[in-house]
Amino acid sequence: MFNQAFKFAAKPAIALIIVVSVQFIYNWTYQIDAKEYYQGKGVIITGASKGIGRELAIQAAQLGAKLVIAARTESKLQETALLCQKYTPHVYAVVADVSKEKDCKQIIDIAAHKLERIDIMILNAAFSYPPSWFTQIDQPGDAFLRVFSVNVLQSVFMVQYGLPYLNKSHGSIIAVSSSASQLGMPQVIPYGTSKHGLNGFFKGLRQEFYLTNTPVSITIIPLPYVHTETALKNWKPIGESHGISADVCAQKMLDAIPYRQSWTYIDWSTYIVGHIYSLFPDSIDFIIRKYLPIMSNIF
Ligand SMILES: NC(=O)c1ccc[n+]([C@@H]2O[C@H](COP(=O)([O-])OP(=O)(O)OC[C@H]3O[C@@H](n4cnc5c(N)ncnc54)[C@H](OP(=O)(O)O)[C@@H]3O)[C@@H](O)[C@H]2O)c1
Ligand SMILES: *[C@@H]1O[C@H](CO)[C@@H](O)[C@H](O)[C@H]1NC(C)=O
Repeated sequence: MFNQAFKFAAKPAIALIIVVSVQFIYNWTYQIDAKEYYQGKGVIITGASKGIGRELAIQAAQLGAKLVIAARTESKLQETALLCQKYTPHVYAVVADVSKEKDCKQIIDIAAHKLERIDIMILNAAFSYPPSWFTQIDQPGDAFLRVFSVNVLQSVFMVQYGLPYLNKSHGSIIAVSSSASQLGMPQVIPYGTSKHGLNGFFKGLRQEFYLTNTPVSITIIPLPYVHTETALKNWKPIGESHGISADVCAQKMLDAIPYRQSWTYIDWSTYIVGHIYSLFPDSIDFIIRKYLPIMSNIF
């Protein structure tokens, strides 16, 4: 029995150890200086009026990037722009709803015009409802449409209009995803499904880029729980007892982007889940059910 289990697990375990060691050695020996990398680069950040997006904008400005930032709430977006202007004069705020095609086109047009180049497109804007059981969602179709139009269609439109510029600059697309894209997460099903969809879009698109010699990298970043206002409001019982702060999150993302990896994990929990979910899906889902009972106390 034990022998059999060992035989079954040995090969994946060895493969995992090899993958992890190679990655570790590679990361350790190959270092890119972030300040040099971002200097003068044209960067678009959606959802920059608060949370992780705002932190990304401020830190990218500190690193010398030229920025176009977008979100719907003008006053909040201007606050972000002001914070960035401490470090660079090149910050352009575009009030836009990224679920709308014409708004996405406008973001790209302004970036192409003002920044003269688009090197990095960070698709960070997202919408989520407070946690709720699927059967308790009033109009599930409407909820899914709303979440999908922001979390998935945004990427479709931004790629549609941004790709010619990214192709020219050999640029990078950053898909801000979630651990909810990698496993079965209860109570956030519209959001989780949209992030699975986001990953699916970019996994397929990446293959097409290889097949058409399109020199644009796609990095999917499944984020863990991050202490933004929105997350803290949605997950009151968890509070700050788990997860990481938005500025640390942004810093790790900006550190990782220059390496143009297909996937970037910024903490151990998403890394582990990302690597072993497909080997042990039932065990991971079991752990999630067992250790997130706190979620069911919310309602
Ligand atoms: N925080 C976490 O625990 C966590 C975990 C995993 C993944 N993530 C991902 O990380 C990203 C940022 O999360 P966050 O916690 O920083 O979120 P947040 O604080 O709620 O910020 C979301 C941003 O997206 C913008 N946005 C929402 N709908 C938009 C629309 N239709 N058009 C344009 N902008 C829109 C918001 O601005 P306006 O409302 O002004 O438009 C805001 O700037 C998201 O992709 C999220 O899914 C977060
Ligand atoms: C990117 O540019 C290359 C070279 O000009 C071209 O062959 C390729 O088709 C372009 N890719 C896309 C998706 O436009």
